Amino acid sequence: MWIGEMKAIQIIRALEVLDSRGNPTVEASVLLSDGTLARASVPSGASTGEAEAVELRDGDSGRYLGRGVLRAVQNVNGTISEHLGGRDAHDQRGIDLTLLRLDGTDNKAGLGANATLAVSEAVARAAALSMKMPLYRYLGGAFAHRLPVPMMNVLNGGAHADNNVDVQEFMIVPLGAQSLRDALRMGAETYHALKGLLKDKKLATAIGDEGGFAPNLTSDEQALGLLVDAVAQAGYKPGQDLFLALDVAASNAWDERSGRYKIGSERTAADLVRLYDGWLSRYPILSIEDGVGEHDHDGWRALTETLGKKVQLVADDYVVTNPALIRRAVADHLANAVLVKPNQIGTVTETLEAVELTKRAGYGVVISHRSGETEDSFIADLAVATNADFIKTGAPCRMDRVAKYNQLLRIEEELEGAADYAGPAVAERLGLGV
Ligand code: PGA
Ligand code: ZN
Repeated sequence: MWIGEMKAIQIIRALEVLDSRGNPTVEASVLLSDGTLARASVPSGASTGEAEAVELRDGDSGRYLGRGVLRAVQNVNGTISEHLGGRDAHDQRGIDLTLLRLDGTDNKAGLGANATLAVSEAVARAAALSMKMPLYRYLGGAFAHRLPVPMMNVLNGGAHADNNVDVQEFMIVPLGAQSLRDALRMGAETYHALKGLLKDKKLATAIGDEGGFAPNLTSDEQALGLLVDAVAQAGYKPGQDLFLALDVAASNAWDERSGRYKIGSERTAADLVRLYDGWLSRYPILSIEDGVGEHDHDGWRALTETLGKKVQLVADDYVVTNPALIRRAVADHLANAVLVKPNQIGTVTETLEAVELTKRAGYGVVISHRSGETEDSFIADLAVATNADFIKTGAPCRMDRVAKYNQLLRIEEELEGAADYAGPAVAERLGLGV
């Protein structure tokens, strides 16, 4: 039993607030006995994996088209607050295990992952604040020092935009930067160069959910060409300073009727693997996420066996930040990196467990936002706390995305000489000489 000074949770309250798409979400506030007050709000996905923790919505069509979260708010103000009142805020794992017990299901359907995560994160933030410690250091300890490589989603398609592009995310990755600060500058300059190119070609510069442009194009491959041109236009070397990454989000492209994927044309998993292999030979792509669908185990095998040595293969919908599913993918030797989204699993403790498992397997770690976000920058601290390889948090545009990048800038500044940009280590792991 801990016999140090206890920081007791005095009050927990939740509020229904809005996310970046104008949908309601949960914000939790936690007040400690020493007067510390902290808040956290949770994001929401559009291309969600089926096995994600349940995001509790009211289903009352009279409010917010059924998307209200008053039941989740009530679960915080009622059950959760009753059971966590008086508990030590520094006992993060104990508190998260209590949330799991109170929820009583294996997918957070009891309380809602939006309720549990808002509380779990607010408790962590309050505990850090009360110790006058930055959140990344509280969560990660004395060894938290690494600034993740940003994957900036500058061209949006799929479920994130109303255009004809099938691949959900086309990202630029400033791997060759010397610091996070340089990486963001290189990314932002390339973003502006891309805007200029789109304008020159009379293509739309309106933006999608994650701040990337969302033009109609003649093919997915045209987007790859535009990104490479934008990198060069900004004065950088494609495949040296900046690389490309994709989130195909193939589960969303799956057509039940034809039993094929609709990426450009109708394709089998084997067709997709060939398509990506062709792209890899023509473009400096270092990472492909969800290249096949979440139920397509054979597809994941073909993808990993054919491309697993050439490129980072990130599992998102396939493992949904769920430790049990990550274990299965690792045991089956499928994928070689994991996307980590705290709201897919619903507590800070389980998120940290997902990261730990991923690292122990020698897989890459990508900390990620959701397409519906808030101003909360928890994932920036989480990425540094876990010394993650990458952070995926949208374009350098829209404050819900930029808030995370700005928090990383603050952390890098605070760490000074102790900060370490992940670029060189990631380049080595992926066998890319930059
Ligand atoms: P989502 O998309 O937040 O809409 O699920 C992000 C992703 O697929 O990585
Ligand atoms: Zn994804």
